[in-house]
Amino acid sequence: MAKLVPVDIFDLIIFGGTGDLAMRKLLPALYHRDRDNQIMAGSRIIAVGRSDLTRDGYIDMVEKALRGNLAQGEFDGEHWKTFSSRIEYARADLVSPDEWTPLCDLLSGKDDRIRVAYLATAPTLFGTIARGMQQNGLITGNSRIVLEKPLGRDFLSASDINNAVGECFSENQIYRIDHYLGKETVQNLLALRFANSLFEPLWRRGAVDHVQITVAEDLGVGGRIEFYDRIGALRDMVQNHLLQLVCLTAMEAPASLHHDAVRDEKIKVLRALRPINAETVRANSVRGQYTSGAIRQSTVPGYLDELGNQDSRCETFVALKVEIDNWRWSNVPFYLRTGKRLQGKHSEIVIQFQDIPHSIFAEQEYNVNPNRLTIRLQPDEGVKLSVMAKEPGPGGFELRPVALDLSFEETFGIRYPDAYERLLMEVLRGNPALFMRRDEVEAAWNWIDGIIDGWENTNQKVEPYIAGSWGPSASSLLLDRDGRAWYPNA
Ligand code: BG6
Repeated sequence: MAKLVPVDIFDLIIFGGTGDLAMRKLLPALYHRDRDNQIMAGSRIIAVGRSDLTRDGYIDMVEKALRGNLAQGEFDGEHWKTFSSRIEYARADLVSPDEWTPLCDLLSGKDDRIRVAYLATAPTLFGTIARGMQQNGLITGNSRIVLEKPLGRDFLSASDINNAVGECFSENQIYRIDHYLGKETVQNLLALRFANSLFEPLWRRGAVDHVQITVAEDLGVGGRIEFYDRIGALRDMVQNHLLQLVCLTAMEAPASLHHDAVRDEKIKVLRALRPINAETVRANSVRGQYTSGAIRQSTVPGYLDELGNQDSRCETFVALKVEIDNWRWSNVPFYLRTGKRLQGKHSEIVIQFQDIPHSIFAEQEYNVNPNRLTIRLQPDEGVKLSVMAKEPGPGGFELRPVALDLSFEETFGIRYPDAYERLLMEVLRGNPALFMRRDEVEAAWNWIDGIIDGWENTNQKVEPYIAGSWGPSASSLLLDRDGRAWYPNA
């Protein structure tokens, strides 16, 4: 069992404290950490919002959210009394300089404790809030600032935000969140690769045929459709989550787990991504948008009907063929796909090894499937190695693919904590390893900008796909052209 060490006394200020992220993710995560005794008496969670609420009114709102968002049996009335005593609320419209007083009053005299400002607001407010904190003397030596994604919508806007926040906070005080880095199985990728010697000799061209990364969701865009319509799946999912998975899969072994050692290796991968541009975008990318269909037997509307605008070309699905131009991965394509309203919630990394060089079973006309290592990120986190075996029994010699299948939940038998639980504790401890450095975010945008320009310049079509499917048929063709197919098969 991992050891739970309490974090020092802190003030965690949540800007956007009444918003969806705070209610659905941050407060439930803090509640769990508090229940496991990681939060010491005296620590405070200070929510800042524009709503005209009293402290009691805000606490009622949090109670409703926890009752709704925690799993059954997790809300404990006794513990709620302790947790709610740590919550404060400050009303402020942060754009007005004279509205900072309630927050300043709450923080006054507490300069020596850890102070974390969590910006769960629109990114357009990041610079304003950082400046507001500076002008009001709220940035102490012990202060950190957490920036939620999306960090801009392209390289330039991301640099503007980084510059604005960087004028007030130093780089080592800035924590840029990609919640995928807090997921247990994503961290397990580091354990799998670097705590086992078995895979390393095979983790390269010559042994690996190709890699597939799928992050599929069955949910649609929901209540944030207007915001999403300006972003699309490439910016929402690929620029951050999928590229981080590419980095962790493809990077060289860092010299240590020191935050800069890991991030230095990740950025080398980002810089080695072969640019996709107007000449290559059609052959290497697919954009899709869901139409009405059925998810688990329930009919769901198409994206355009949900949006109420039949003209949107926003992609809710992306598939890419990505090449990494370095010695380890030369000519080993990474195929990525992500989308909303796909057949199920299903995220995995598949390492497909090469075919055997010569089959001694050819006369028997047996198909010998290549070995496959599947790292399941969610749900049913685990690792599966597909191998060929002889079917038991006398008589003929039959071959069959079978799996060495490890389910983490069955093996460890514990609740899998939400990514935000770990990430919040890491910020409070001052460990930036699971957060993105400025150069990483900018390198990722730089590469994504090429695809966006390519789409715009070539007017690349958004292909419809039926909700509940595995995406547009063009996504299967992307692999089919190379003699390959997605797992699970579309
Ligand atoms: C968020 C995206 O970053 O990740 C959402 O903005 C997406 O659109 C979500 O639904 C997926 O996260 P998870 O943890 O459910 O895989």
